[in-house]
Amino acid sequence: MSFPENFVWGTAAASYQIEGAAAVDGKGPSVWDMLCRKEGAVYDGNTGEVACDHYHRYAEDVGLLKSMNVKAYRLSISWPRVLPTGTGPSNEAGLDFYDRLIDALLAAGITPWVTLFHWDFPLELYYQGGWLNRDSADWFAEYATVVARRLGDRVTHWMTLNEPQVYINAGHLEGRHAPGDKLAFHEVLRAAHNTLRAHGRGVQALRAMSPGPCRVGYAPASHPKVPASDAPADVEAARRAFFATTGKHLATMSWWLDPVFLGKYPEDAWSYFGRDVPHVLAGDLELISQPVDFFGVNIYAGDRIRATPGGGFERVPFPPGHPRTAFNWPIVPEAMYHTTRFCHDRYKKPIVITENGISCTDSVDLDGRVRDPLRIDFTRRYLLQLERAIDAGVPVEGYFHWSFIDNFEWADGYKQRFGLVHCDYATGTRTPKDSSKWYAEVIRTNGASLRAGG
Ligand code: FCB
Repeated sequence: MSFPENFVWGTAAASYQIEGAAAVDGKGPSVWDMLCRKEGAVYDGNTGEVACDHYHRYAEDVGLLKSMNVKAYRLSISWPRVLPTGTGPSNEAGLDFYDRLIDALLAAGITPWVTLFHWDFPLELYYQGGWLNRDSADWFAEYATVVARRLGDRVTHWMTLNEPQVYINAGHLEGRHAPGDKLAFHEVLRAAHNTLRAHGRGVQALRAMSPGPCRVGYAPASHPKVPASDAPADVEAARRAFFATTGKHLATMSWWLDPVFLGKYPEDAWSYFGRDVPHVLAGDLELISQPVDFFGVNIYAGDRIRATPGGGFERVPFPPGHPRTAFNWPIVPEAMYHTTRFCHDRYKKPIVITENGISCTDSVDLDGRVRDPLRIDFTRRYLLQLERAIDAGVPVEGYFHWSFIDNFEWADGYKQRFGLVHCDYATGTRTPKDSSKWYAEVIRTNGASLRAGG
């Protein structure tokens, strides 16, 4: 077997990480613009003010995507570029930008896959309580309506939220990401509940405003667990660990997945979180569990798990010297196989890998070339494991490599390079890395070159 014929090969990026033009043409500030101005919040004082200047260089970027043979490109819309204060009057210049970008992609034969929220929350709405405010779901519905009304004639693939658990956990509990808060756990769960409600309202708005059929998905983060051995007991332990509640944090996958795909909060987490659980009103869970068409899974690292006597599980440390990325994330290719299987077994949804990639310390060599053999090896290993899942019967519809181009890696600023294309931030110069040519060949052969060792 191999990748299905219509497999969607793509790359991904997100508005705040590449666009720049942070205060241009009427764009309002987001919580990330605010956090970047806070001393010590982002590596080396980096900001997203200019980033890759994709806002002005999008035509060149679409040309680069085309040269990679990608069939699809996952982008996100900046909410405050479209609605500068989050609700109310829309910003024509901002909408025009996305018009131009979508048109350029379609002209290049690339299908846009659009995420509505990839973390750049309008600052003005943060001042109104942000996700703690129950009205946030209505604000999101208004935004989704404006975007779908404008782009729905050409965009047919949507995702509501990107990794809400990272946004909420790192941004509202740990204070590492925007808006930089460290709230009490019950407040964090309230914010989380509202983002889930916003997801539901977003799905409804996208379907209501799309003139034709559209596919709508949800792209949460995953915290993969892989079995320490092939023994069935370890595989089942890894599965249990993947969905388990192990502390008062929001890395609990089931908390973010069960309400959306099964229409209920997981019972173990509900009792573990005790008095901190959110106030759920009648109709909330029906709203949150609007039918969606695909499950977007972002996969990077993973933990090794083994079974313990009595049906438990424990983490097994990686052996010393286990390969790691520049971010120090362990390289765990089997995460592709097990995570897609665990997710499909439980939720029975078609799966799209909405993100997967590696940060490396890439630089331009004296001869002008960017050699990134680690990225090629990493991606080959992960894609072969994805193919293994497809062979095992998991319906995987697509794969989006993170990222198309080096970009602003949140609190790590420009330190981490995830791109298939190198970006020189001082000049804006783009240089396709060796991996982009390699990926173009993977796509051209629909994955056959992976097996040929090429
Ligand atoms: C994910 C984010 C994405 C990028 C990658 C490396 O958590 O969705 O924006 O930062 O990690």
